[in-house]
Amino acid sequence: MPSFPPGFLWGVSTASYQIEGAVHEDGRGQSIWDTFAHTPGRVRDGDTGDVACDHYHRWPEDVELLGDLGVRAYRFSIAWPRVQPDGSGAVNPRGLDFYDNLVDALLARGVIPVPTLFHWDLPQALEDAGGWLNRDTAYRFAEYAAVVADRLGDRVTRWITLNEPIVHLAEGYAFGTHAPGRALMFDALPVAHHQLLGHGLAVRALRARGATEVMITNNCTPVRPAGPGPEDATAAAIYDAFHNGLFLDPMLTGRYPELSGMPADAPFIHDGDLDIIGTPVDALGINYYQPNRIGAPGADSPLPFEILPIEGVPQTAFGWPVVPGGLRELMVGLRARYGAALPPIYITENGCSTVDVPDADDRVHDAARIDYLDSHLRALHQAIDEGVDVRGYFVWSLMDNFEWEEGYHQRFGLVRVDYDTQRRTPKDSYEWLRSALAAQP
Ligand code: FCB
Repeated sequence: MPSFPPGFLWGVSTASYQIEGAVHEDGRGQSIWDTFAHTPGRVRDGDTGDVACDHYHRWPEDVELLGDLGVRAYRFSIAWPRVQPDGSGAVNPRGLDFYDNLVDALLARGVIPVPTLFHWDLPQALEDAGGWLNRDTAYRFAEYAAVVADRLGDRVTRWITLNEPIVHLAEGYAFGTHAPGRALMFDALPVAHHQLLGHGLAVRALRARGATEVMITNNCTPVRPAGPGPEDATAAAIYDAFHNGLFLDPMLTGRYPELSGMPADAPFIHDGDLDIIGTPVDALGINYYQPNRIGAPGADSPLPFEILPIEGVPQTAFGWPVVPGGLRELMVGLRARYGAALPPIYITENGCSTVDVPDADDRVHDAARIDYLDSHLRALHQAIDEGVDVRGYFVWSLMDNFEWEEGYHQRFGLVRVDYDTQRRTPKDSYEWLRSALAAQP
């Protein structure tokens, strides 16, 4: 692996519902993912996050794995329903205790905590009141951010507000493949605005409590038109505006992209909202997995674009195309688009699922994951060489975990989790990353 700049922040990522389990313990309230996963037919094979990686009980072992790996930072998420079981008002101190202890243990091992405040596990009580379709959820989010920062802010200075609001909007509210399982198509657009409003309000609440580096994590993708014709070009531009621009433009340029479908005069956009949304962030988290190839929609398509397969490249176990050059293309493209308005970037997720079967000696030879990480890091390094300000890189994920509607069928971890015994086994990729990090400046 090439040498990255000194001080480059190496880390790994996880998320609360995907690893914690212990859904009924210590006063945790119900989240929309509990409801969704327990609804028959929603998650493959009926898997749920009830136990997941049992991280809620095994976190000391997981912190040891992080420390031994040699990462400087750990991105995890805080489960809102552990902190405020009903999503607002009463605070559950035992929920905060869990993250308080985790933060102390990380710092004792020399690992910087980078919590995400919302990685999709909305308290069910807020969903019952309309979820992110309801403007009030943005204010509840800022209130919750303040509660968490009041408890952890003496030790945590870097924060991520939201994880991938585009995915929560699209999968959760437009198509219904994630919790809360609503299929509103373009009627889901208020969810985008309210998430962004909540983000802006939370940035202000965190700053007021001493945060020094606040960011949002967006899922971004380079968009490639399927063919040279104008129809494909238009479809690709619409997709790009929806996937990338909808959440970056209002933050960085003060307005929604015209092609995103967000009407400038939408009644749910109030005076002053765009100022709040544009509250400067210190950095931008980007999750990159794959580019998207977009063509004009078929005659019966309900959408103004069609997502087409990318042929002729390797695929992950999930069937996602492996295109490392897309990461460079994305970085350079964002810089070209936003210029000086683009904040420093952290890659807050990148990784792949593979079919990891332990051999007779209980070793997992996940060569495909090593290739994936190595090639993406090389592409990222190239973008840095070309002048893009990238400050860190986090692998998704520390360990195998609950992969949303795919349940336990996709394994993204550097560490294997045996879900029968909860035994953790570092894979070859973990050893590879450990050596690579030890060789970094
Ligand atoms: C991202 C999510 C993360 C994980 C990876 C594979 O979209 O943020 O929780 O599921 O995909």
